[in-house]
Amino acid sequence: MTAPIHVAVTGAAGQIGYAAIFRLASGEIFGPDQPVVLHLIELPQAMGALDGVHMELDDCAFPTLAGVVKSDSDHLEDGFAGCHWVLLVGSIPRKAGMERADLIRINGPIFTQTGKAIQAAADKNVRVVVVGNPCNTNCLIAMSHAPNVPRENWFAMTRLDQNRAVAQLANKAGVAIKDVGNVAIWGNHSATQFPDFLNAKINGKAATSVITDSAWLKSDFVSTVQQRGAAVIKARGASSAASAANAALDTVKGVIRPTPAGTCVSAAVYTDGSQYGIPEGIVCGLPLSSDGKTWKVLPGYEIDDYSRGMIDASVKELLQERDTVKDLLP
Ligand code: NAD
Ligand code: LMR
Repeated sequence: MTAPIHVAVTGAAGQIGYAAIFRLASGEIFGPDQPVVLHLIELPQAMGALDGVHMELDDCAFPTLAGVVKSDSDHLEDGFAGCHWVLLVGSIPRKAGMERADLIRINGPIFTQTGKAIQAAADKNVRVVVVGNPCNTNCLIAMSHAPNVPRENWFAMTRLDQNRAVAQLANKAGVAIKDVGNVAIWGNHSATQFPDFLNAKINGKAATSVITDSAWLKSDFVSTVQQRGAAVIKARGASSAASAANAALDTVKGVIRPTPAGTCVSAAVYTDGSQYGIPEGIVCGLPLSSDGKTWKVLPGYEIDDYSRGMIDASVKELLQERDTVKDLLP
């Protein structure tokens, strides 16, 4: 008998939670022979809705779903007990007209208790993906309260930005999604992020040699990716959910499966000050590669004056966000 993987999802009855947990239960992420126990965490007032989600999970009769543990956010340690993966989604989404950073004083405090509870109760090698916005700085808050969990086990989600960037490049070049690779997202999951077209590849060639319209790359492409979340909110009246859940699951897959040669997976990770001129002590989007067990920041990405300016601006914003929440950092 294979021991089950325990996966916690906070905000499990919300939009993203609802779009993620059935796929986690189905065997798609960890494989058809790997049992999964879902730990679903919600606010006390949402536990009724969570009961309904649990009924639907039962009604799927997934052979890989080995159990469901439901906990409210007043009992986080029960929720995270023994978990190997945690997806931190539970938080408030922004509304039209807001920047994600406007949520920092509302959502930031959630991540102090969450970090403490993960350290106290989760598996010692737990890996955590922070989705709730502003995700880079929320990740920094949570990990600061869980100093015994290795820093390399924490990720904030820039994969949605990577997927958006890949789709935009594929569409512009008239190629298939699979033909676009090596798209890094640098910096913050915010309007300052830099979706890196300079190092992107289309059918193995520099994207800039396939899409020669550099004005489009520097203006339309960059701003479309930077503003895509706001555009979805404007059109849908609610923030991205299915694509966000998909990106959270892609983040997990990007860590547990080897990264194909010649490409990267995008996530924001804790910086140690040694790479790409980025200061230590923030959670910053970088190009990563995994061997299926451990990951590294990919070296050797070209950075020209334009991309240096873009990356530095986003790093500056992350430093400002860190300053805004300094009372939440131990
Ligand atoms: P939602 O409102 O539909 O769901 C959030 C759920 O979290 C709700 O069910 C709510 O009851 C629950 N919740 C709130 N506070 C909680 C807490 N302290 N503990 C446990 N549960 C809690 O929102 P959503 O659309 O699912 O978005 C969730 C978050 O994800 C938002 O902050 C949003 O901005 C963010 N997001 C991030 C990305 C990204 O790329 N990083 C993409 C999309 C959305
Ligand atoms: C997104 O990028 O879609 C999310 O971060 C939600 C938002 O507020 O834009």
